[in-house]
Amino acid sequence: MLKLFSGTGNPDLSQEVAQLLKISLSASEVVRFENSEVRVRIEEDVKNDICAVIQPIANPTDTNLMEMFLFCDALRRQEAHKVIGIIPYFGYARQDIQHREGECVSISVIIRFLESIGFNKVYTFDLHDEATSGVFSIPFKDLTSLNVLANDVKKTLGKSFNRDSVVVVSPDQGGIERTRNFGRFLYGDDYFSVSVIEKKRDLAHIHQSGALNLFGDVKDKVAILVDDIITSGGTLIHAANLCKEKGAKKIFAAIVHHDLSIKAPPKIQESAIEKVFTTNTVKLKPEYNFEKLHEVSIASIIAEELKTFKNV
Ligand code: R5P
Repeated sequence: MLKLFSGTGNPDLSQEVAQLLKISLSASEVVRFENSEVRVRIEEDVKNDICAVIQPIANPTDTNLMEMFLFCDALRRQEAHKVIGIIPYFGYARQDIQHREGECVSISVIIRFLESIGFNKVYTFDLHDEATSGVFSIPFKDLTSLNVLANDVKKTLGKSFNRDSVVVVSPDQGGIERTRNFGRFLYGDDYFSVSVIEKKRDLAHIHQSGALNLFGDVKDKVAILVDDIITSGGTLIHAANLCKEKGAKKIFAAIVHHDLSIKAPPKIQESAIEKVFTTNTVKLKPEYNFEKLHEVSIASIIAEELKTFKNV
């Protein structure tokens, strides 16, 4: 039998998935002590059940991560048959190599924890670098929300959408493949070109980057910037400014995860970007919401995946 648990990271998303699966969320208790320790308790029988836990590793990142580890431990102790981790947003995924000598590789540490605590399978969405999937030695699947984002963008553009008037733009060199994948969903084929911005990071200072150059033609077109994550908004805003400078008519953004810093929403709201299409992999706290942000749900993608475990 499939049992679905929710961490405190994004209970609305978990609830939506449960409704789509026509099951109730299973009972658990998450207690936070005054010294910030957390305790997780499973409050129903899970012996021999397949148990899935939905928990994004998003701000508060470490707190949510620890909760995820503790869910797995509690389920194992109650003799669950399998524990499946659904991590819609995989915080720390950007720390996937030593960007500078002497740095830790955080994502590798987290994967080792997930494996050794006893997860049988892990799912995520649009992982920062697909090569990270090779670090897992347990079954792992990277789901994508680019199709639902592309549909949403297309619906908004309506009749004005045609391949000559719309261009997809990667705001950095590392995002070309992601932007192409998004474009395939948007245009329905492979016959389009991706414009690319050369981004320069300042590795010695956090959240600092600049857009140096744009390769491709955005003049008089609707430019759609495609990225996996917004945090400070710097990447996106610099890219939008450059598109505008090069003559783009309108600028939209399609970004999977809004793992926002608190200063980002007003800056994006004031920017040249008309609308930010994003998903609910991360719970949107009211203080991070802004008018231009438009969320689409990934619940049906998770539910579809979990259906395969429902009748096991
Ligand atoms: C970087 O490689 C990522 O794909 C994002 O472009 C970046 O992390 C976004 O961060 P920020 O909004 O702080 O520029």
